[in-house]
Amino acid sequence: MLMQAEFTRVARVEELPPGAKHVAEINGKAVLLCNSNGKVFAISNICSHAEEKLDCGRMGNGWIACPIHGARFDLATGKAKNPPAKQPIAVYAVRLEEGWIEVAA
Ligand code: FES
Repeated sequence: MLMQAEFTRVARVEELPPGAKHVAEINGKAVLLCNSNGKVFAISNICSHAEEKLDCGRMGNGWIACPIHGARFDLATGKAKNPPAKQPIAVYAVRLEEGWIEVAA
């Protein structure tokens, strides 16, 4: 049977203005919320290259750069956009409910 992840309330919408990030742990997973140009994304906070944290990385329009060796990841798909990372990172479903950001991870 396919297990569907439950949505977990993570932060208030106003805590994550455009350009902001928010670190969370959901069901034992290191998750990073990113607001890129007003759109909220939830990704794994662990780089697929050498498992460093992504939360101090620079964000651009729809991507985040790993602060260690500079690989960039697409916030919507998790795809690695440039080396040294080759593998994607996990991305999680996000929904807004009653002023809360909820994530299924
Ligand atoms: S640890 Fe992220 S690019 Fe190397």
